[in-house]
Amino acid sequence: MTSLTDRRILLGVAGGIAAYKTADLVRRLRERGAEIRVVMTPGAQEFVSPLTFQALSGKPVHTDLLDTAAEAAMGHIELAKWAQLLLIAPVSANLLAKLAIGFADNLLTTLCLASEAPLVLAPAMNQAMWQHAATQANVQTLQQRGAQILGPASGSQACGDVGPGRMLEPNLLIERIATLFTPQTEVGQLTGKHIAITAGPTREPLDPVRYLSNYSSGKMGFALAAAAHHAGAEVTLIAGPVDLPTPRGVKRIDVLNALEMHAAAKQAADHCDLFIAAAAVADFRPQQISSQKIKKSEGNIEGTLRLIKNPDIVAAIAKRNHKRPFTVGFAAETEKLIKHAREKLSRKKLDMIIANDISDPDNGFNSDYNQVVVIDHEGEYSMSAALKSELAAALLEKIVARAFK
Ligand code: C5P
Repeated sequence: MTSLTDRRILLGVAGGIAAYKTADLVRRLRERGAEIRVVMTPGAQEFVSPLTFQALSGKPVHTDLLDTAAEAAMGHIELAKWAQLLLIAPVSANLLAKLAIGFADNLLTTLCLASEAPLVLAPAMNQAMWQHAATQANVQTLQQRGAQILGPASGSQACGDVGPGRMLEPNLLIERIATLFTPQTEVGQLTGKHIAITAGPTREPLDPVRYLSNYSSGKMGFALAAAAHHAGAEVTLIAGPVDLPTPRGVKRIDVLNALEMHAAAKQAADHCDLFIAAAAVADFRPQQISSQKIKKSEGNIEGTLRLIKNPDIVAAIAKRNHKRPFTVGFAAETEKLIKHAREKLSRKKLDMIIANDISDPDNGFNSDYNQVVVIDHEGEYSMSAALKSELAAALLEKIVARAFK
């Protein structure tokens, strides 16, 4: 299950060279479980044949407003009511102008007027056409009416120009569309709340060039931070060494090893209402850090490497008597998921634990997907496998419902 499963998306295609990318978009949307009906403008058919979209969508492609056979199969009003989302990719400068005015001169413009579904537009055009005051005014009009504009991206264009006007890549469009269908903690719901989140691995140095670490990507913690900010919270993200951009509006504190993460977490926990430990903290660190690179000739390192335990950061915060935030941990397990997670919930004195099975290489560690079970002292709630970015919003809703009930 993904947030796109069984979603009914009416995909409009306007004339433009970017229409070839829309073929891939249809394939990917269907892979994620969405039902797609394609509507092409006359201009679009000059670039890609309706047969291509018919094969990829598995449904007849709609092209004419006044086609009696098509109207008998699924009339345009029926099609407008069927849609849960109207997505037009690419949308041309010409179509933006028609939509801004409210034309109903072909099937696609008519459907846009007849449907009450949200309208999402992915523009693609020459950079000068995009930047023209007329186009920008049309975009503004459409946005004021509630349309969402995704892109365009900047870069080199088919016509040889460089600048804004490239249609967003299908994978980016899909992420943005998926979030539209994801239950979100309401914007503003967490205003006034401070949330601290640890994310990523820690790196425990052995010498100036070597360290002990793990495969954690940090994606889950970063996605939670973005979702919490979206809901209005003040977010501090304590990040181990990861290659991820800082989510917009989030205060990021970069740390390298467990001791640094612990120090930053203690400080953040003093001022937060909710502490979420999504980091994969290294359990041990080398007892001694060699100031020089350890030489292979210095003997058998297997026999000489001594490790000491790192502090358990989340447990230290959960065991506080004063300044104790609602405390949530994660349990990544390869076997006996629920049993081991419950044991951690009580041993670390957490309020809630998010258990995920990392024996499946498609989910969990270093993957874009995750499947989790939320466990607290009152029960368990199993969540469907989803992209971490989508899961984060749904997961945050569950956490917040308990933390701030
Ligand atoms: O014991 P285990 O490492 O499986 O527990 C996982 C949970 O504890 C995660 O929430 C992780 O962020 C947290 N943890 C921690 N400090 C450690 C080890 C784990 O905060 N030293």
